[in-house]
Amino acid sequence: MPDQSLPPFLMTSDPGSFARATILERKPQIIRQVLADNIYPLGIVAALKDFRAEIASRTIQPLAESAPDVADWNRELAQYAGKTWLEIPWYFAETYFYRRLLNVVRYFQPGEWQGADPFQKQKQIQMESDVQRLASTWDQLPVLEPETRFEALLHSSLWGNRADLSNFTVRVKARGGLATATERHLILINHTEQVRNLLAGGLPRVDFICDNVGSDLLFDLALADFLLSQGWAQAIQLNLKNQPFFVSDAMLEDALHTVNLLKAASSLGLQDLGGRLDEDLTAERLLFATDPFWTTSRMFRQMPVHLRQELAPAGLVLVKGDVNYRRLLDDRRWPHTTRMEDVCTYFPAPFVALRTLKGEIMVGLKVGQTESLQAEDPDWMINGKRGVIQLVIP
Ligand code: F6P
Ligand code: MG
Repeated sequence: MPDQSLPPFLMTSDPGSFARATILERKPQIIRQVLADNIYPLGIVAALKDFRAEIASRTIQPLAESAPDVADWNRELAQYAGKTWLEIPWYFAETYFYRRLLNVVRYFQPGEWQGADPFQKQKQIQMESDVQRLASTWDQLPVLEPETRFEALLHSSLWGNRADLSNFTVRVKARGGLATATERHLILINHTEQVRNLLAGGLPRVDFICDNVGSDLLFDLALADFLLSQGWAQAIQLNLKNQPFFVSDAMLEDALHTVNLLKAASSLGLQDLGGRLDEDLTAERLLFATDPFWTTSRMFRQMPVHLRQELAPAGLVLVKGDVNYRRLLDDRRWPHTTRMEDVCTYFPAPFVALRTLKGEIMVGLKVGQTESLQAEDPDWMINGKRGVIQLVIP
Protein backbone atom coordinates (compact mmCIF):
# COMPACT_ATOMS: atom_id res chain seq x y z
CA MET A 1 0.00 0.00 0.00
CA PRO A 2 1.46 3.41 -0.92
CA ASP A 3 2.11 5.64 2.09
CA GLN A 4 -0.37 8.52 1.63
CA SER A 5 1.66 10.86 3.83
CA LEU A 6 4.65 10.85 1.47
CA PRO A 7 4.87 12.90 -1.74
CA PRO A 8 4.65 10.85 -4.94
CA PHE A 9 7.67 9.49 -6.80
CA LEU A 10 8.92 11.34 -9.87
CA MET A 11 7.33 9.33 -12.69
CA THR A 12 8.20 8.84 -16.34
CA SER A 13 4.48 9.42 -16.96
CA ASP A 14 4.56 12.98 -15.55
CA PRO A 15 3.45 15.16 -18.50
CA GLY A 16 6.10 17.59 -19.75
CA SER A 17 8.61 16.36 -17.17
CA PHE A 18 12.35 15.93 -17.57
CA ALA A 19 11.78 12.33 -16.40
CA ARG A 20 9.61 11.71 -19.45
CA ALA A 21 12.09 13.39 -21.79
CA THR A 22 14.81 11.18 -20.31
CA ILE A 23 13.00 8.10 -21.59
CA LEU A 24 11.72 9.56 -24.85
CA GLU A 25 14.89 11.37 -25.95
CA ARG A 26 17.93 10.80 -23.77
CA LYS A 27 17.87 6.99 -23.44
CA PRO A 28 17.58 6.40 -27.23
CA GLN A 29 20.47 8.83 -27.67
CA ILE A 30 22.56 6.88 -25.17
CA ILE A 31 21.90 3.68 -27.15
CA ARG A 32 22.86 5.48 -30.39
CA GLN A 33 26.14 6.57 -28.80
CA VAL A 34 26.88 3.03 -27.59
CA LEU A 35 26.27 1.76 -31.14
CA ALA A 36 28.59 4.42 -32.55
CA ASP A 37 31.39 3.76 -30.04
CA ASN A 38 31.56 -0.04 -30.13
CA ILE A 39 32.11 -2.50 -32.94
CA TYR A 40 29.55 -5.10 -31.91
CA PRO A 41 28.55 -8.22 -33.85
CA LEU A 42 25.24 -8.08 -35.71
CA GLY A 43 23.41 -9.96 -32.94
CA ILE A 44 24.22 -7.30 -30.34
CA VAL A 45 23.48 -4.46 -32.79
CA ALA A 46 20.05 -5.95 -33.51
CA ALA A 47 19.38 -6.49 -29.79
CA LEU A 48 20.33 -2.87 -29.03
CA LYS A 49 17.94 -1.62 -31.71
CA ASP A 50 15.19 -3.86 -30.40
CA PHE A 51 15.81 -2.52 -26.88
CA ARG A 52 15.45 1.00 -28.25
CA ALA A 53 12.10 0.03 -29.79
CA GLU A 54 10.94 -1.51 -26.51
CA ILE A 55 11.69 1.72 -24.65
CA ALA A 56 9.78 3.79 -27.20
CA SER A 57 6.50 1.90 -27.06
CA ARG A 58 6.46 -1.64 -25.70
CA THR A 59 5.90 -3.06 -22.22
CA ILE A 60 8.94 -3.32 -20.02
CA GLN A 61 10.55 -6.77 -20.25
CA PRO A 62 12.22 -8.81 -17.49
CA LEU A 63 15.87 -9.74 -17.50
CA ALA A 64 16.42 -13.03 -19.29
CA GLU A 65 19.95 -14.15 -18.60
CA SER A 66 21.90 -15.97 -15.96
CA ALA A 67 23.56 -13.60 -13.47
CA PRO A 68 23.50 -13.28 -9.67
CA ASP A 69 21.29 -10.17 -9.59
CA VAL A 70 18.62 -11.29 -12.09
CA ALA A 71 16.10 -12.64 -9.56
CA ASP A 72 16.35 -9.46 -7.51
CA TRP A 73 15.74 -7.15 -10.49
CA ASN A 74 12.87 -9.27 -11.77
CA ARG A 75 11.24 -9.27 -8.34
CA GLU A 76 11.36 -5.44 -8.32
CA LEU A 77 10.12 -5.34 -11.89
CA ALA A 78 7.12 -7.59 -11.17
CA GLN A 79 5.25 -4.66 -9.64
CA TYR A 80 5.36 -2.90 -13.05
CA ALA A 81 4.34 -5.93 -15.13
CA GLY A 82 2.36 -4.88 -18.20
CA LYS A 83 3.49 -1.24 -17.96
CA THR A 84 5.49 0.62 -20.58
CA TRP A 85 8.70 2.55 -19.86
CA LEU A 86 6.55 5.69 -19.75
CA GLU A 87 4.40 4.53 -16.85
CA ILE A 88 6.84 3.80 -14.03
CA PRO A 89 8.92 5.57 -11.34
CA TRP A 90 11.77 7.50 -12.92
CA TYR A 91 14.59 6.18 -10.77
CA PHE A 92 13.60 2.57 -11.34
CA ALA A 93 13.30 3.21 -15.09
CA GLU A 94 16.77 4.73 -15.32
CA THR A 95 18.57 2.12 -13.25
CA TYR A 96 16.79 -0.75 -14.98
CA PHE A 97 17.73 0.80 -18.33
CA TYR A 98 21.44 0.54 -17.46
CA ARG A 99 21.05 -3.03 -16.19
CA ARG A 100 19.17 -4.11 -19.33
CA LEU A 101 21.77 -2.44 -21.51
CA LEU A 102 24.45 -4.59 -19.86
CA ASN A 103 22.28 -7.62 -20.56
CA VAL A 104 21.92 -6.65 -24.22
CA VAL A 105 25.67 -6.13 -24.75
CA ARG A 106 26.42 -9.46 -22.96
CA TYR A 107 28.43 -7.81 -20.21
CA PHE A 108 27.89 -10.66 -17.75
CA GLN A 109 27.98 -13.56 -20.20
CA PRO A 110 31.10 -15.64 -20.88
CA GLY A 111 32.61 -14.72 -24.22
CA GLU A 112 34.25 -11.86 -26.06
CA TRP A 113 32.03 -9.12 -24.59
CA GLN A 114 32.14 -10.19 -20.99
CA GLY A 115 33.21 -7.22 -18.87
CA ALA A 116 33.45 -4.88 -21.89
CA ASP A 117 32.21 -1.47 -20.68
CA PRO A 118 29.91 -0.04 -23.39
CA PHE A 119 30.77 3.49 -22.20
CA GLN A 120 34.54 2.96 -22.06
CA LYS A 121 35.37 5.15 -25.06
CA GLN A 122 33.44 8.17 -23.79
CA LYS A 123 34.82 7.75 -20.29
CA GLN A 124 38.39 7.39 -21.51
CA ILE A 125 38.19 10.62 -23.51
CA GLN A 126 36.71 12.44 -20.51
CA MET A 127 39.34 11.12 -18.09
CA GLU A 128 42.26 12.03 -20.34
CA SER A 129 41.05 15.46 -21.38
CA ASP A 130 40.18 16.48 -17.81
CA VAL A 131 43.63 15.49 -16.54
CA GLN A 132 45.16 17.56 -19.34
CA ARG A 133 42.98 20.53 -18.53
CA LEU A 134 43.82 20.29 -14.86
CA ALA A 135 47.54 20.22 -15.65
CA SER A 136 47.34 23.82 -16.83
CA THR A 137 45.80 25.20 -13.61
CA TRP A 138 46.97 22.85 -10.86
CA ASP A 139 49.98 24.98 -9.87
CA GLN A 140 47.67 27.77 -8.67
CA LEU A 141 46.60 25.60 -5.71
CA PRO A 142 49.66 24.88 -3.52
CA VAL A 143 50.34 28.62 -3.08
CA LEU A 144 46.95 29.13 -1.39
CA GLU A 145 46.45 29.07 2.37
CA PRO A 146 44.93 25.74 3.51
CA GLU A 147 41.48 27.22 4.18
CA THR A 148 41.27 28.86 0.75
CA ARG A 149 42.72 25.75 -0.88
CA PHE A 150 40.04 23.64 0.78
CA GLU A 151 37.31 25.90 -0.57
CA ALA A 152 38.78 25.82 -4.09
CA LEU A 153 38.95 22.02 -3.99
CA LEU A 154 35.46 21.56 -2.53
CA HIS A 155 33.91 23.90 -5.10
CA SER A 156 35.86 22.29 -7.94
CA SER A 157 34.60 18.92 -6.76
CA LEU A 158 31.06 20.33 -6.89
CA TRP A 159 31.38 21.87 -10.38
CA GLY A 160 33.17 18.76 -11.60
CA ASN A 161 29.81 17.07 -11.18
CA ARG A 162 28.62 18.86 -14.31
CA ALA A 163 30.77 16.40 -16.26
CA ASP A 164 27.95 13.93 -16.77
CA LEU A 165 28.11 11.93 -19.98
CA SER A 166 24.50 10.75 -19.80
CA ASN A 167 23.24 14.27 -20.38
CA PHE A 168 24.05 15.56 -23.84
CA THR A 169 22.94 19.11 -23.08
CA VAL A 170 24.96 19.49 -19.90
CA ARG A 171 28.08 17.69 -21.15
CA VAL A 172 28.59 20.13 -24.00
CA LYS A 173 28.60 23.11 -21.66
CA ALA A 174 30.51 21.52 -18.76
CA ARG A 175 33.82 23.28 -18.37
CA GLY A 176 35.37 21.46 -15.41
CA GLY A 177 38.73 22.63 -14.07
CA LEU A 178 39.49 24.76 -11.04
CA ALA A 179 36.52 26.59 -9.49
CA THR A 180 36.52 30.37 -9.59
CA ALA A 181 34.85 32.82 -7.21
CA THR A 182 32.71 34.09 -10.10
CA GLU A 183 30.53 30.98 -9.82
CA ARG A 184 30.04 31.14 -6.06
CA HIS A 185 26.64 32.84 -6.42
CA LEU A 186 25.40 29.76 -8.28
CA ILE A 187 25.68 27.64 -5.13
CA LEU A 188 22.08 27.81 -3.94
CA ILE A 189 22.79 26.28 -0.54
CA ASN A 190 26.37 26.81 0.54
CA HIS A 191 27.55 25.15 3.74
CA THR A 192 31.25 25.39 2.84
CA GLU A 193 32.18 27.00 6.14
CA GLN A 194 30.32 24.47 8.28
CA VAL A 195 31.91 21.61 6.32
CA ARG A 196 35.36 23.16 6.74
CA ASN A 197 34.85 23.59 10.49
CA LEU A 198 33.75 19.98 10.80
CA LEU A 199 36.75 18.68 8.89
CA ALA A 200 39.41 21.01 10.25
CA GLY A 201 38.82 19.53 13.72
CA GLY A 202 40.26 16.29 12.32
CA LEU A 203 38.14 13.21 11.63
CA PRO A 204 39.19 9.55 11.95
CA ARG A 205 37.29 8.61 8.81
CA VAL A 206 35.73 10.35 5.80
CA ASP A 207 33.80 8.63 3.00
CA PHE A 208 32.94 9.74 -0.51
CA ILE A 209 29.99 8.22 -2.37
CA CYS A 210 31.46 9.02 -5.77
CA ASP A 211 29.80 9.86 -9.07
CA ASN A 212 31.38 10.53 -12.47
CA VAL A 213 34.82 10.07 -14.02
CA GLY A 214 36.67 13.18 -15.17
CA SER A 215 36.73 16.40 -13.17
CA ASP A 216 34.16 15.02 -10.75
CA LEU A 217 36.43 12.19 -9.59
CA LEU A 218 39.69 14.11 -10.11
CA PHE A 219 38.67 16.69 -7.55
CA ASP A 220 37.40 14.01 -5.16
CA LEU A 221 40.89 12.54 -5.32
CA ALA A 222 42.53 15.94 -4.94
CA LEU A 223 40.29 16.72 -1.98
CA ALA A 224 41.06 13.34 -0.40
CA ASP A 225 44.79 14.05 -0.83
CA PHE A 226 44.35 17.46 0.81
CA LEU A 227 42.38 16.06 3.78
CA LEU A 228 44.93 13.31 4.39
CA SER A 229 47.98 15.54 4.05
CA GLN A 230 46.50 18.25 6.32
CA GLY A 231 45.57 15.63 8.92
CA TRP A 232 41.90 16.64 8.57
CA ALA A 233 41.11 12.95 7.92
CA GLN A 234 43.02 9.90 9.12
CA ALA A 235 41.45 7.53 6.57
CA ILE A 236 39.31 8.03 3.50
CA GLN A 237 37.17 5.57 1.55
CA LEU A 238 35.96 6.26 -1.97
CA ASN A 239 32.82 4.24 -2.72
CA LEU A 240 32.74 3.44 -6.42
CA LYS A 241 30.51 1.52 -8.81
CA ASN A 242 30.99 -2.20 -9.49
CA GLN A 243 29.66 -2.03 -13.07
CA PRO A 244 28.82 0.58 -15.76
CA PHE A 245 26.04 2.90 -14.55
CA PHE A 246 24.59 6.22 -15.80
CA VAL A 247 27.27 6.27 -18.53
CA SER A 248 29.99 8.18 -16.71
CA ASP A 249 29.83 6.83 -13.17
CA ALA A 250 33.29 5.87 -11.94
CA MET A 251 34.01 2.21 -11.42
CA LEU A 252 36.83 0.99 -9.22
CA GLU A 253 39.05 0.39 -12.25
CA ASP A 254 38.32 3.93 -13.53
CA ALA A 255 39.59 5.34 -10.23
CA LEU A 256 42.79 3.30 -10.44
CA HIS A 257 43.22 4.39 -14.05
CA THR A 258 42.75 8.04 -13.05
CA VAL A 259 45.55 7.73 -10.48
CA ASN A 260 47.79 6.30 -13.21
CA LEU A 261 46.86 9.16 -15.55
CA LEU A 262 47.86 11.63 -12.83
CA LYS A 263 51.20 9.88 -12.35
CA ALA A 264 51.86 10.18 -16.07
CA ALA A 265 50.55 13.77 -16.42
CA SER A 266 52.55 16.54 -18.06
CA SER A 267 52.50 18.67 -14.88
CA LEU A 268 54.97 17.85 -12.10
CA GLY A 269 52.37 18.89 -9.52
CA LEU A 270 49.89 16.35 -10.86
CA GLN A 271 52.59 13.67 -10.99
CA ASP A 272 53.23 14.34 -7.29
CA LEU A 273 49.52 14.15 -6.55
CA GLY A 274 49.33 10.77 -8.34
CA GLY A 275 52.37 9.54 -6.41
CA ARG A 276 50.91 10.57 -3.05
CA LEU A 277 47.59 8.90 -3.87
CA ASP A 278 49.46 5.74 -4.78
CA GLU A 279 51.30 5.79 -1.45
CA ASP A 280 48.05 6.40 0.44
CA LEU A 281 46.46 3.45 -1.33
CA THR A 282 49.40 1.21 -0.45
CA ALA A 283 49.32 2.37 3.17
CA GLU A 284 45.53 1.87 3.16
CA ARG A 285 44.92 5.41 4.38
CA LEU A 286 42.99 5.71 1.13
CA LEU A 287 40.62 2.90 0.18
CA PHE A 288 38.79 2.33 -3.09
CA ALA A 289 35.74 0.18 -2.36
CA THR A 290 32.70 -1.02 -4.22
CA ASP A 291 29.41 -2.68 -3.39
CA PRO A 292 26.59 -4.01 -5.59
CA PHE A 293 24.08 -1.79 -3.74
CA TRP A 294 25.40 1.34 -5.48
CA THR A 295 24.13 0.12 -8.88
CA THR A 296 20.70 -1.09 -7.78
CA SER A 297 17.27 0.57 -8.03
CA ARG A 298 17.15 1.02 -4.25
CA MET A 299 17.07 4.32 -2.42
CA PHE A 300 19.63 5.17 0.29
CA ARG A 301 16.87 4.62 2.86
CA GLN A 302 17.05 0.95 1.81
CA MET A 303 20.81 0.69 2.27
CA PRO A 304 21.76 -2.80 3.48
CA VAL A 305 22.84 -3.19 7.09
CA HIS A 306 26.47 -4.03 6.24
CA LEU A 307 26.85 -0.74 4.31
CA ARG A 308 25.16 1.29 7.02
CA GLN A 309 27.59 -0.21 9.49
CA GLU A 310 30.50 0.60 7.22
CA LEU A 311 29.46 4.26 6.83
CA ALA A 312 28.43 4.78 10.47
CA PRO A 313 31.96 5.54 11.79
CA ALA A 314 32.49 8.24 9.15
CA GLY A 315 32.65 11.74 10.63
CA LEU A 316 31.48 12.99 7.23
CA VAL A 317 30.23 11.38 4.01
CA LEU A 318 30.52 13.42 0.81
CA VAL A 319 27.58 12.39 -1.36
CA LYS A 320 28.32 13.37 -4.94
CA GLY A 321 25.98 14.11 -7.80
CA ASP A 322 22.44 14.33 -8.95
CA VAL A 323 21.46 10.68 -8.90
CA ASN A 324 22.78 10.23 -5.37
CA TYR A 325 20.79 13.33 -4.35
CA ARG A 326 17.69 11.68 -5.76
CA ARG A 327 18.48 8.49 -3.87
CA LEU A 328 18.88 10.47 -0.63
CA LEU A 329 15.39 11.88 -1.15
CA ASP A 330 13.67 8.69 -2.39
CA ASP A 331 13.19 10.45 -5.76
CA ARG A 332 9.98 12.01 -4.47
CA ARG A 333 8.32 15.37 -5.15
CA TRP A 334 9.12 17.03 -1.83
CA PRO A 335 8.08 20.67 -1.48
CA HIS A 336 11.30 22.62 -2.13
CA THR A 337 11.20 24.17 1.33
CA THR A 338 11.37 20.73 3.02
CA ARG A 339 14.32 20.42 5.37
CA MET A 340 16.74 17.77 4.17
CA GLU A 341 17.34 16.83 7.82
CA ASP A 342 13.67 15.87 8.12
CA VAL A 343 13.81 13.48 5.16
CA CYS A 344 17.23 11.96 5.81
CA THR A 345 16.93 11.01 9.48
CA TYR A 346 17.77 7.44 8.40
CA PHE A 347 21.28 8.25 7.12
CA PRO A 348 23.96 6.57 9.26
CA ALA A 349 26.42 9.51 9.46
CA PRO A 350 26.73 13.27 8.88
CA PHE A 351 26.80 13.95 5.16
CA VAL A 352 27.25 16.76 2.69
CA ALA A 353 25.49 16.60 -0.69
CA LEU A 354 27.65 18.07 -3.48
CA ARG A 355 25.31 18.19 -6.43
CA THR A 356 24.80 20.22 -9.57
CA LEU A 357 21.10 20.45 -10.40
CA LYS A 358 20.20 18.08 -13.26
CA GLY A 359 16.85 16.68 -12.17
CA GLU A 360 13.51 18.05 -11.02
CA ILE A 361 13.98 17.51 -7.31
CA MET A 362 15.12 19.94 -4.63
CA VAL A 363 14.86 20.54 -0.90
CA GLY A 364 16.23 23.08 1.56
CA LEU A 365 15.23 26.27 -0.28
CA LYS A 366 13.80 29.36 1.39
CA VAL A 367 10.18 30.40 0.92
CA GLY A 368 9.89 32.24 -2.42
CA GLN A 369 13.28 31.04 -3.73
CA THR A 370 11.74 28.56 -6.20
CA GLU A 371 9.60 31.30 -7.69
CA SER A 372 12.49 33.72 -8.16
CA LEU A 373 14.73 31.01 -9.66
CA GLN A 374 11.94 30.00 -12.02
CA ALA A 375 11.57 33.61 -13.17
CA GLU A 376 15.34 33.99 -13.60
CA ASP A 377 15.93 30.72 -15.49
CA PRO A 378 13.09 28.32 -16.35
CA ASP A 379 15.61 25.45 -16.73
CA TRP A 380 17.31 26.04 -13.38
CA MET A 381 16.59 22.52 -12.12
CA ILE A 382 17.97 20.61 -15.07
CA ASN A 383 20.68 22.61 -16.83
CA GLY A 384 23.51 21.82 -14.40
CA LYS A 385 24.38 25.49 -13.98
CA ARG A 386 23.65 25.67 -10.27
CA GLY A 387 24.72 23.52 -7.36
CA VAL A 388 24.39 22.82 -3.66
CA ILE A 389 26.82 22.10 -0.84
CA GLN A 390 24.24 20.89 1.62
CA LEU A 391 25.41 19.63 5.02
CA VAL A 392 23.09 17.41 7.03
CA ILE A 393 23.79 16.12 10.51
CA PRO A 394 21.02 13.56 11.04
O1 F6P B 1 19.30 12.74 -12.29
C1 F6P B 1 18.99 13.40 -13.47
C2 F6P B 1 20.00 13.07 -14.50
O2 F6P B 1 19.79 13.84 -15.65
C3 F6P B 1 19.97 11.62 -14.87
O3 F6P B 1 19.07 11.29 -15.83
C4 F6P B 1 21.37 11.58 -15.31
O4 F6P B 1 21.77 10.50 -15.86
C5 F6P B 1 21.96 12.12 -14.06
O5 F6P B 1 21.30 13.35 -14.00
C6 F6P B 1 23.37 12.12 -13.92
O6 F6P B 1 23.81 13.02 -12.96
P1 F6P B 1 24.95 12.64 -11.96
O7 F6P B 1 26.06 12.06 -12.74
O8 F6P B 1 25.28 13.94 -11.31
O9 F6P B 1 24.36 11.66 -10.98
MG1 MG C 1 26.70 10.05 -12.77
